[in-house]
Formats: sequence, structure tokens, C-alpha cells
Amino acid sequence: MSAQPLIAAEAVTKEFPLQGSMLPWRAHRFTAVENVSIAIAPGEVLGLVGESASGKSTLGRILLGLIQPSAGTVRFRGTDLRAIGGGERRAMRRALQIIFQDPYASLDPRLTIGAIVREGLDIHGIGAPGARDVKVAHLLGRVGLDAGFARRYPHELSGGQRQRVGIARALAVEPTFIVGDEPVSALDVSIRGQILALLAELRRSMGLSMLLISHDIGAISQLSDRIAVLYAGRMIEIGSRSQVLRTPRHPYTRALLAAIPVPDPSRRRAPPPALTDGASASPDRAGCVFAPRCPHVRPACTGSVPPLTVLESGHGTACLLQDELPPAA
Ligand SMILES: Nc1ncnc2c1ncn2[C@@H]1O[C@H](COP(=O)(O)OP(=O)(O)O)[C@@H](O)[C@H]1O
Ligand SMILES: [Mg+2]
Repeated sequence: MSAQPLIAAEAVTKEFPLQGSMLPWRAHRFTAVENVSIAIAPGEVLGLVGESASGKSTLGRILLGLIQPSAGTVRFRGTDLRAIGGGERRAMRRALQIIFQDPYASLDPRLTIGAIVREGLDIHGIGAPGARDVKVAHLLGRVGLDAGFARRYPHELSGGQRQRVGIARALAVEPTFIVGDEPVSALDVSIRGQILALLAELRRSMGLSMLLISHDIGAISQLSDRIAVLYAGRMIEIGSRSQVLRTPRHPYTRALLAAIPVPDPSRRRAPPPALTDGASASPDRAGCVFAPRCPHVRPACTGSVPPLTVLESGHGTACLLQDELPPAA
């Protein structure tokens, strides 16, 4: 990446105290995100995939400055988030927005849609107060809702309409980076495509950067320029969409992709060897966290943490055996 990243995490780790524990020792902490470095360019959409509890939301919130990492640094346009104070902090808050999985839970049921979308304009003093309702109507139009929705309440809307409101609310403050945290996971399959198309259109027309989080690699891969895969808090693979989808190198990524139905039978891949059922075991972080489930596991895999090795093409994989594995079918 030549240009300065818009937002970058450098070796970020987040540990949480284990339930009920006040003790500072390592054994009493749970590692949600470990040593993850990721940089998102202006205008880029990065897909972030991994199963439930792999640390996706935690990493997204760290990038937005909503939670502090236990270690590591987040930079927005090159500046450490912790060093941004006063008025610049306000501008940063405005530039970094989030869209949630369940817009209903995040929309105040007592407020009209108009008031919800207007809130950010009032907080950040965007536009003259008298002009803000016009801006709200414009924003609603931008996400495919007619201006009459401004007078309605969240409970009167369908799931897809509510997600459009969630997007309008995020757009109101003219952000440069949006984290979509499972933005289509709660929606009917028939509605998902519409919301993804809306996000794609907004990204094109507004030059937005996005981190698109999903437990379902199929749901967000089309929109993603690059895809990063998390497993147990570690980034185990990252690459361009085609690198990750067509030539996945990590056994876990291969297993994820094998689980997606392929519409064209002639392109169907041979299934990779089945995963060992070790998912519930808390992984030993001294070695590869995927080792308990890996069909290719060898003794060397448990002794040390496999580094993320990045090929010249930019395709990175954290697997000791990556060069020995049979090519993905
Ligand atoms: N505030 C918190 N306190 C304690 N543990 C947390 C907290 N937030 C997340 N976790 C734990 O961190 C892990 C990663 O969570 P999360 O980032 O939400 O994963 P994902 O979004 O991939 O499902 C989970 O095991 C979760 O229980
Ligand atoms: Mg999550």
C-alpha cells in the first residue's frame, strides 16, 4: 500500500479479565485479540471474517477508539488515537462510525426516524439548525427511504428499513471510515443483497473506507477489496479478495470456504479434510491456536506461534505448513 493508511492497528492485543476475576495474572485474563496489525487505505473495504467469539467486534471497536487495546497502537491518518485530544477528538469521533447488526436494538424506540438521523447533525453542529430537516430528508433518500419515513417510529419499520436508518444515521455526520459489524447477519437473505448493494453504492459515491465484519465469508466477500480471517483472536490469513477466495493458504480459511455453497457445480472444490472437533477446547496460545482442529497438525505446530508470513503479492498466512500443504482445489 503506497498511500498512508486511513486507519491502522499496529500489534493490538485486547485481554479481558475472566468472569469474576480481579486478579491481574495472565491465567485470569482472556485474550480476545492478539497481536493483530491491519491497515485500511482510503476508500478501501476490508472484510473481516471468523467464527463467533473470534474477536471481530473487539477489533472493530478498537479501530474506532471505542475500546482501548491492552497493548499496541491505533493510528488514524498516522496519528495515535490516544494522542488526539480536544476538538480533533470530536472530528475523529465524527469520522469514525459504526453500523450494528441489529439496528432495532440501537435505535431509540421513543424517537422518530427523523430525530434519530438528525441527532448526529445536532451533536456535531452540522448545517444550520433550520436546514437540518432538509438534510435528514436527503439522507433518507440516499439510503432509499422516502422523506415520509422521518415521521415514523422504529417499530413501524421492517428489518431492512431499520438497517437503512442505521446507515443513514452513520452517514449523517459525513464519516470517512465505517465499521459494519455483521450489518446483514440479522436480515432475511432476500434483503441482504439490497443492503450490500446500498453499501457498495455509498462506498463508490462517497469514497468511504469500511471494515465489514461477518461470521459468514460469503456474505461480505463480494464487497471486500481484501479479506482478513481471524481465529481465536489471531489474524491467520489476509489477502486480496481473489487471493483469499481462490488460493486460500490456511487450513482454516480453506475449511470456511468449503462450507459455502458454490452455485456452479463445475467450479465446486473438493472438500478439504474435515476439521477435528476441538472447537470447545480453549486453545493453547503458546502454539498455533487452530492446531486442536487442524487436519494437518504436526508436533511443530504446538511449540511456537506461527508468524504471519507475507508473500510478495501481499498475501499473508500464519501457518508453519503453508508451503507443504496440497494446493486448494
Ligand atoms: N467486555 C468484555 N468482557 C469480557 N469478555 C469479552 C468482552 N467483550 C468480548 N469479550 C470476549 O471476547 C471474545 C471475542 O468477542 P467478540 O469480539 O465479540 O467476538 P466476535 O465479534 O468475533 O463474535 C469472546 O469470547 C467474548 O466473550
Ligand atoms: Mg461480534
